[in-house]
Amino acid sequence: MASVKVAVRVRPFNQRELDLEAKLIIQMQGNRTGILNCKANARDESIRYKEFTFDYSYWSHNKESPNFVSQEQVYNDLGTEVVDCAFQGYNGCVFAYGQTGSGKTFTMMGSPEEQGLIPRVCKSIFDRMVENSMKGTTHRVSVSYLEIYQEKVADLLKGHNSAVRVREHPKKGPYVEGLTTLIVTNYEQILECITRGNANRTTAATNMNDVSSRSHAIFTITFVQAGYCNGIPSETVSKIHLVDLAGSERADATGSTGKRLKEGAHINKSLVTLGSVISSLAELCSEPSGYRRSFFIPYRDSVLTWLLKDSLGGNSKTIMIATISPADCNYAESLSTLRYANRAKNIINKPTINEDPNVKLIRELREEISKLRALMFNEHRSDMLAKIHEKEAREKELTEEWTSKWREAQAILREQTALGLRKAGPGVVLDSDRPHLVAIDDDPLSTGVTLYHLKVNINYIIICLIKERCIRGTFGKRIASLPYLY
Ligand SMILES: Nc1ncnc2c1ncn2[C@@H]1O[C@H](COP(=O)(O)OP(=O)(O)O)[C@@H](O)[C@H]1O
Ligand SMILES: [Mg+2]
Repeated sequence: MASVKVAVRVRPFNQRELDLEAKLIIQMQGNRTGILNCKANARDESIRYKEFTFDYSYWSHNKESPNFVSQEQVYNDLGTEVVDCAFQGYNGCVFAYGQTGSGKTFTMMGSPEEQGLIPRVCKSIFDRMVENSMKGTTHRVSVSYLEIYQEKVADLLKGHNSAVRVREHPKKGPYVEGLTTLIVTNYEQILECITRGNANRTTAATNMNDVSSRSHAIFTITFVQAGYCNGIPSETVSKIHLVDLAGSERADATGSTGKRLKEGAHINKSLVTLGSVISSLAELCSEPSGYRRSFFIPYRDSVLTWLLKDSLGGNSKTIMIATISPADCNYAESLSTLRYANRAKNIINKPTINEDPNVKLIRELREEISKLRALMFNEHRSDMLAKIHEKEAREKELTEEWTSKWREAQAILREQTALGLRKAGPGVVLDSDRPHLVAIDDDPLSTGVTLYHLKVNINYIIICLIKERCIRGTFGKRIASLPYLY
């Protein structure tokens, strides 16, 4: 069990607020955030000043303040938790919530000079991977980046107009069909993906009337870690979602009119549903456990909540960062954000380590065997022997199976990186002296150039693949000389 962690961050005045000679209405002390209503009757203190307690209250209003919180500190508190999640095998999620212009994108992405959480988390994952690799652990990192706009999903790694559909797998749950997932082997590659996705988001924003404030962007890192831990196979998979939500003013369509209302109503669906899901979960989690069954959580009512179901009340360690403006002119929005964040604090998730099922079985069998051995030894139960042998044989078989799968995966990854795949101008040069086929994704950024080494006498597979047009790309130079092909 783990509560959703909630942080609030206040940014500096922007130019508009400075021009308006805005008043500072936010105060922070320790982990408390207070908001002042300048217009309210001064005699009624409970209306004039409201205070909330969060896990963190981040004062990023002015650099001169001794309490000033930098991008680095936000990373140190929250980003390192996300990285830990990945290495421990938990799912993790960070949401940035707040009105347009309050600092969501600054906190999540930042700028080249002041990097935000996403690039810092990615950097740290690769740094730690290098350390762990020395101990013999292998890793596989892949990323995807999508945008939800008007309840439709776009693939940000593919380009604009790249609509993809959300589907539901009977066991694995909701997923996005055909979403580009790129394997990345170093920080530079992951940064390339981020930059590309952001560029696609921006292009859409200028063409289509500030889409970025109306859309949700989800950057997902899938992290697989495998190796031996004290002689026992170990394999975990974690999914880390880093989410930059649409401006929270879109959650309230009442102020909009005409065309704006229609657009607003659409975009609101995910945000409004997120609000309902958070409220229902907050209520559910504060109920005594016996009453919990009667609650309905409307995950399916929007694409965002459906896709991120696990992050809300499920199998994930989740963090919400609520960003607010410091100015009196944004009082209503800031108060509403603080109330929203206050509710999110009550959500309790149930994170579990996502262990490979076979590895789990091996571990359980080993535990059983040692218990049975102890029983046999202490109570002189010779009848246990057959049972122990049977379990040992099963455990050995599973371990061998897993080890060969692991070696194979290692070899594939090694081949992909050490293949001699050289970038030469706009193309790639492949140094391989064995017969091979190359599948090149039509995505020029893809690091997933796939190489099929061919075994002699199985060339009919090649013909079959060509016929089915499963492989787009070129033949390796040696394949042309294989007689079977013609
Ligand atoms: N903590 C902060 N420190 C400095 N500048 C900030 C901070 N938060 C936001 N800003 C600036 O405020 C502007 C709006 O922030 P942005 O992150 O784009 O808002 P949002 O994504 O919530 O719409 C940007 O120019 C950004 O650089
Ligand atoms: Mg933004």
